[in-house]
Amino acid sequence: MTITEELINQINVCKKCPLHKGRIHAVPGEGSYKAEIMFIGEGPGRDEDIQGRPFVGAAGKLLTKLIESIGLSRDEVFIANVVKCRPPENRDPLPEEVSACWPYLEQQIKIIKPLLIVTLGRHSMGRFLSGLKISEVHGMPKRTKGFWGEKQVYLPLYHPAVALYDPRKKETLLEDFKKIPLILKKIKEEK
Ligand code: URA
Ligand code: SF4
Repeated sequence: MTITEELINQINVCKKCPLHKGRIHAVPGEGSYKAEIMFIGEGPGRDEDIQGRPFVGAAGKLLTKLIESIGLSRDEVFIANVVKCRPPENRDPLPEEVSACWPYLEQQIKIIKPLLIVTLGRHSMGRFLSGLKISEVHGMPKRTKGFWGEKQVYLPLYHPAVALYDPRKKETLLEDFKKIPLILKKIKEEK
């Protein structure tokens, strides 16, 4: 078994926090383990829980379109969440649930070593970058220390679910997405 298969299996049977009790499926995340970009949401919703796959509901369909709008496919990036099991009624995960699940995301990031981590929504942003307001920093890359040691570039974006009912945020999200290719190019030039 490869290290990534083992990680997926561990997540699928994990009982490290109470969220395992309400799940149909854990949602480990999916995409390429050689991805240059990782998209990180907060946690699975109803559709994700049913299918065991990240971002497959209405917000996910928009995310897929946004990814394709910059000439990429879901297979070429990696899509994951901070917590791997759906919180009841889609509430925010509790701090202890995030702490219990965090090592999985940390391992995924260490395996993939993405050039760019795109956080989706203010909750996901807050796990990596503290003290920022999403309305002020969305679409602006931040280079800061990764918890794995090296410097890491993050791009905080609005969550696609918010864009579904707010046309102006959808426009903003589209504009912010358009910046990704150039941000990636710059990261590569600086390497
Ligand atoms: N919202 C998220 O944050 N993650 C998903 O996987 C789906 C919706
Ligand atoms: Fe395990 Fe994470 Fe699911 Fe909690 S949310 S049971 S820590 S996989």
